[in-house]
Amino acid sequence: MSTPFAALILAAGKGTRMKSDRPKVLHEVCGVSMIRHAIDCALAAGAERVVPVIGHGAEQVRAVAEAAPGTVTCVVQEQQLGTGHAVRVCEAELGGYPHPVLILNGDVPLITPDLLTDVLAHHRKSGGGITVVTVQLDDPTGYGRMVRGKGGDLERVVEQKDASPEERAVREVNTGIYVADPQVLFPLLARVSDNNAQGEYYLTDIVGLSLADGRVVHVYRATDPDLVLGVNSRRDLAQVSAVLRRRIHNRLMDEGVTLLDPSRTDIDAGVRIGPDTVIHPGVTLQGATVIGVNCEILPGTRIVDATLGDGITVKDNCLIDGATLAGHNTVGPMAHLRPGTALAQGAKIGNFVEIKKADIGVGSKVNHLSYVGDATVGKGVNIGAGTITCNYDGVNKFQTVIGDHVFVGSDTQLVAPVTVGEGATIGAGTTVTRDVPADALAVSRTEQKNVAGWAKRRRQPQSKKEP
Ligand code: UD1
Ligand code: CA
Repeated sequence: MSTPFAALILAAGKGTRMKSDRPKVLHEVCGVSMIRHAIDCALAAGAERVVPVIGHGAEQVRAVAEAAPGTVTCVVQEQQLGTGHAVRVCEAELGGYPHPVLILNGDVPLITPDLLTDVLAHHRKSGGGITVVTVQLDDPTGYGRMVRGKGGDLERVVEQKDASPEERAVREVNTGIYVADPQVLFPLLARVSDNNAQGEYYLTDIVGLSLADGRVVHVYRATDPDLVLGVNSRRDLAQVSAVLRRRIHNRLMDEGVTLLDPSRTDIDAGVRIGPDTVIHPGVTLQGATVIGVNCEILPGTRIVDATLGDGITVKDNCLIDGATLAGHNTVGPMAHLRPGTALAQGAKIGNFVEIKKADIGVGSKVNHLSYVGDATVGKGVNIGAGTITCNYDGVNKFQTVIGDHVFVGSDTQLVAPVTVGEGATIGAGTTVTRDVPADALAVSRTEQKNVAGWAKRRRQPQSKKEP
């Protein structure tokens, strides 16, 4: 079994180049904030505790970080004096921790739990101390370079701004991922100075200091350069999102989901989809959405935090938000299922229908142009075109209850609170203001009057009237 470890996540920086009021690590990549990507990844790799270092927008970042499902304790770095300083402010929290500490940047959302697990195993096998993760890049601009001596032995890490032209030519860069034993890490950090081009305490200086002391620093060479793509600007955000989206798509396709055109499909990191489901182009699936097997989602539909069972068809241009669909339902085109909607097996929602906080029973149909809100609809019910539950009197919301096998005629208004008993029929055009007993017919209409010949007379001009 793997040994325990803690994860320290650097997330105090402002991210000036994002040109944003929001702290950088709260910007989202495929529906998940970057800080949550880092925390979730560390937890998935088995971190027993996670310590984010926060500063800019500290309280906002803390709220998001500490909502993660694990032991997350934020440490505030009041002034951003550099990455070395950021780790040092965690000494009270982690100085006495008896296991390795994994250090990550909070702005690198493409790291994976597998990589972290490998790096930790490498650290353990190499005998501990300090391990740095590096990668070879075609264009190393902006990253810290791994400076090696004549024999190829690592000497130190040099930042872009401090590097000589020869050092800048080095293509092996520091990914910003490290594993360090606390009893080695914190004494070294105490010796780091801010005597460099940026006047910052560089975490990277622990490499040179350790080597100068004659102690080995282990290097783990990662192979996938995408793993280190950091986000410093909106352009980086788009680039990283594209990579993560591709990974999500590939995973889903490997699991048996058909994406008819992945390049025109948006699926958040947390979405789960069963095999043999077909997703058409122009579909957006967000948040904690779960979709079962054998479903088909047609173009232009967006589904947010919804749970769909098996064998469901969602036709074009629907919005499904916070709804639960039991299975074998048909929805749309152009339907809006709002939070609190629950469709039982086989229930069918058609064109231009809006449902909110309503249970629709087994096999019931709301096929055209209706609004059903704050309602309970039984099984085998037919709701005719243009039916409205009048659930709001301007102050309060009221419930409509419709029993099993009720037939609601077209253009009906149900003025809540109101109950329609099992098996009742509502005549078209009725305004239901009182409860309807089971098996009754409710009709409320002004009586129809036919005026004979009226239309024909209107068609004949006055002048041509016979004498
Ligand atoms: C850092 C590394 C560089 C590496 C690169 C990989 C240093 C000195 N350099 O550079 O070698 O190639 O990452 O991405 O470490 N932060 C704080 N407090 C601070 C300063 C930074 O929490 O006082 C956080 C930032 O919010 C960010 C992370 O640390 O999440 C990295 O800081 P950043 O300034 O982006 O470092 P880089 O220049 O990218
Ligand atoms: Ca960075």
